[in-house]
Amino acid sequence: MILSSGLLSKFYTMNNDWYSKYSDNIKDYEGYPIGKTLKYLADPEIISLAGGLPSPDIFQKLEFKIASEKSLNSDIDKIMQYSAIPGEPALINAIIKYLKRDNINVTAENILITTSGQQSLDITGRLFLNPDDIVLVDRPTFAGAVVAFQMQKPKFVGIDIQEDGSNVDGFQQKIIELQKTGQKPKFIYVVPDFQNPTGITMSLKKREALLDLSYEFDIPIIEDSPYRDLRYYGETIPAIFSLDQKRGGENVIGLYTFSKIFCPGMRVGFNIGNKEVIEKMTYIKEGNILNTPKYNQDICTAFLEDMNYDNHIKKSIKYYREKLNGFLNTLSKYFPESTGVTWTKPEGGLFLWLTLPEKIDTDKLFFEAIKYKVAFVPGSQFFGENHARNNMRLNFSFCSQDQLTEAVKRLAKCINDQL
Ligand SMILES: Cc1ncc(COP(=O)(O)O)c(C=O)c1O
Repeated sequence: MILSSGLLSKFYTMNNDWYSKYSDNIKDYEGYPIGKTLKYLADPEIISLAGGLPSPDIFQKLEFKIASEKSLNSDIDKIMQYSAIPGEPALINAIIKYLKRDNINVTAENILITTSGQQSLDITGRLFLNPDDIVLVDRPTFAGAVVAFQMQKPKFVGIDIQEDGSNVDGFQQKIIELQKTGQKPKFIYVVPDFQNPTGITMSLKKREALLDLSYEFDIPIIEDSPYRDLRYYGETIPAIFSLDQKRGGENVIGLYTFSKIFCPGMRVGFNIGNKEVIEKMTYIKEGNILNTPKYNQDICTAFLEDMNYDNHIKKSIKYYREKLNGFLNTLSKYFPESTGVTWTKPEGGLFLWLTLPEKIDTDKLFFEAIKYKVAFVPGSQFFGENHARNNMRLNFSFCSQDQLTEAVKRLAKCINDQL
């Protein structure tokens, strides 16, 4: 019998039609567009303003090593083991304290530790979205959120962001318009502090107005806050989550990550929200990653508790503020008004948004810029629908001051040659 099955196998050849076997959600999915551009950046002569990388200059390397040693020495058995799905109690307690400083009052049942902000977004999408559900977003919005939510095949409805944040009136009009056709957005996704990609911050008035909208139409707000502590100018504006709590609501889900304030390598983030929502999110995490590595959580606990958080943030702010200043000055020098090029002036975060004359398509310009040894992220990647073509996102946190200056010079030459 064994022989015959061996003989039979001769008559079958491998059928490599994997495509027909993929799930409908994934079949035509082409991956994170930003990821696709990375291969063009292999040339070490290219200065890349494309990534969203924090600077290793301000990584707390020594403190990291000390925390690492302490954790390994005291807890190696647990570190090498599976751990609790909602997260390590020590980290959860440190987060409760951390959030109190921002007038956010939560208990352990309101917190889920995630394996990065990207997983926070993925879990949020899985929890709320059915195919064709509507997600209300800014135009532009964070590309990683679009990618994460896209897995559930929603429709993105975007309203142009304004200088002081989301166009809340525009959101309202859109909600009313949708209501007439029996539709309602599942949630509104915003990055109120130093938005990725524009660097724009939402005013207090708009945060309150967005909450009004959320209450009136019963639509949750997803507040994504990776950059909140990295403010270089102006006064801190309350998180929408805290404004919601103050008004007795529970309409906001907060997404956080340690990636930008500490380091992205640990891949630790957390979600906060209503107890039942967090419980459901925990079930989703159970099915896709089970637990976030305890070692990584221990290091993040040490970051909040033992690494002089205030001092680190102060240092980070000073460091990034200088870079931002230098970058803005260089942009003014190389793009005088006559070029028709404009850009946002962020009060914090890691990015600014450059707008070029309409005839320039930055998807195409990207490949030209590579020839000039400079890279950016084309603006089209930050739209859920109806992509604009004449913008780019520029990151100023990672490159040295000299590299930033040289990058702007190269970019100006490239753009001028196109104009
Ligand atoms: C707005 C926003 N949300 C979430 C993330 C994801 O962060 P993480 O690196 O923790 O996955 C980023 C990263 O760039 C971001 O800019």
